Amino acid sequence: MKRFAVSVPATSANLGPGFDTIGLALDLRIRADVRVLDAGSEPAWEFSGPEAPTHGGLRDEMLRAMRTLYASVGQTPPPLAIAVENPIPLGRGLGGSAAGAALGLAIAAALRDPEPAIEELTRTITVLEGHPDNGVPAIVGGIVVAVSEGEDVVYARFDAPAELRAQVVVPDFSMPTREARAILPDAYPRRDAVYNVGHAALLAAALASGQVDLLRTAMRDRLHQPFRASFVPGLPEMLALDTPGLLGVALSGAGPSVIALVRPGCDAGEHMQAIFAKHGVASRVLDLAISAGGIVREG
Ligand code: HSE
Repeated sequence: MKRFAVSVPATSANLGPGFDTIGLALDLRIRADVRVLDAGSEPAWEFSGPEAPTHGGLRDEMLRAMRTLYASVGQTPPPLAIAVENPIPLGRGLGGSAAGAALGLAIAAALRDPEPAIEELTRTITVLEGHPDNGVPAIVGGIVVAVSEGEDVVYARFDAPAELRAQVVVPDFSMPTREARAILPDAYPRRDAVYNVGHAALLAAALASGQVDLLRTAMRDRLHQPFRASFVPGLPEMLALDTPGLLGVALSGAGPSVIALVRPGCDAGEHMQAIFAKHGVASRVLDLAISAGGIVREG
């Protein structure tokens, strides 16, 4: 009987101006232990861990991804027993749905014959998610700048600067990405578009070259954060925070979590938690390394 384990990381998308384009992998991994069952057996699912889902959303994301990858070669997955251990807060802007999809793709990729190339995985997750900024780093790890070109996704992946860490403050309410996208305008003034082109380019250059002192300016955004601030109490105060070791602050993905990129030992997370508390919102702080790994397979 074939048995193996796979894991994929949480991700933080946008990092301010890189809306739908820039994302990074975080050292917080959802893991699945997989057993291939005899033909005709009933599939079995088990969820555990601090963020075990309370409804079937994560399982559905995984199944959809597995079936999509098999369907592309005209096959269906075998019956499986899958035990998932999840530490990634779901619906909080940490790439929970992309992690579910990436985990499903990782399981199917380990089993499918022929095994898919990485490009098929990055393209498939971009179709499943609708944009590449969480899905691609969940598969390849590190920091990713990605664009959709027709049916393809074209990306650059690089390792994070050595001193970079993330402190993510996770509030005790969730925000469906669909709703957080619906509040955005359909069109923007040219000056705001130009502002974001410049800042996103500076952000990518700062991260790729290790010029982390540029991040404070580079992480400013006019495309989504000003609109999403209406459902994230205290966001403008967090974006303006200044404390030793803090490099830059952004809404994590579509929110409501907020991410600070920091040097080790920074207390930005505590400050952001205090700002949430001042607005009556309970939260917790995750202090995380940037993950160089995307899909990791054991066995
Ligand atoms: N780029 C996406 C957004 C990330 O901001 O809506 C969340 O899926």
